[in-house]
Amino acid sequence: MSGELSPIDKAKFVAAKRAVDFVEDGMRVGMGTGSTAAWMVRCLGELVREEGLNITAVPTSTRTAELARDEGIKVVSLDEAKWLDITIDGADEYDAHLNLIKGGGGALLQEKIVATASDRMVVIADISKQVETLGAFPLPVEVIPFGWKTSKALVEETLVGMDVLGRETSLRMNGESAYITDEGNYILDLHLKRIADPHQLGYVLNQIPGVVENGLFVDICDTVVIGFGDGKVEVRDINNGTVEESQFDFVDSDNLFADLED
Ligand code: A5P
Repeated sequence: MSGELSPIDKAKFVAAKRAVDFVEDGMRVGMGTGSTAAWMVRCLGELVREEGLNITAVPTSTRTAELARDEGIKVVSLDEAKWLDITIDGADEYDAHLNLIKGGGGALLQEKIVATASDRMVVIADISKQVETLGAFPLPVEVIPFGWKTSKALVEETLVGMDVLGRETSLRMNGESAYITDEGNYILDLHLKRIADPHQLGYVLNQIPGVVENGLFVDICDTVVIGFGDGKVEVRDINNGTVEESQFDFVDSDNLFADLED
């Protein structure tokens, strides 16, 4: 990346930079996927290389695994790590209860498994991800390719009984072909506009044959670290009800990761 960071990248960066303060020597760390999570991987890579931080990482996608290895971070599988001290990941939306929509980047399945296998899940996000009610961002649902049209029809039928504002669903595409997840599955994007009961919807969707997992993360996230374009960072913890603010000074850090393309 050349020149000054854009305000949105500054917001993502400061959220990531603040979140890595929660990572301690010897920890097993779940690493999320997406542009905000990529900042976190770079920040941890810098700590590993320059300060000798000793961590073991479990990435949530092939993209993140590759970046973590490039950063010099030790990568293992979840089965090798067994359980994680912390997972840091981005989100497409978060609400006041720290319920999330995730999967815009297509990695929701590994992300949910890894976050659930962690003592603590920390979400890093810029303030644009904050919503009063989840659902403006299309909800990703991972389905197996076999019979996916039937699964799509069953999802649509199920939505009739749900308290949502929209019921349109679409198969996620990658050019002319269906988008394929790391597990070889498809993704249906559910254009719901407003999800009144994320807990109920998440449960019901997962009962449909062919559905592997959905992108609603309910009662999984413990902390959200919110970044702002001016360097302000807010840390909200749902368990102890605390809100902390800090300010990142960009003056000395403008060239941080200056050689990276995002
Ligand atoms: C990946 O599957 C997603 O869950 C991402 O974590 C989410 O889409 C946030 O991505 P960005 O940080 O790129 O907005």
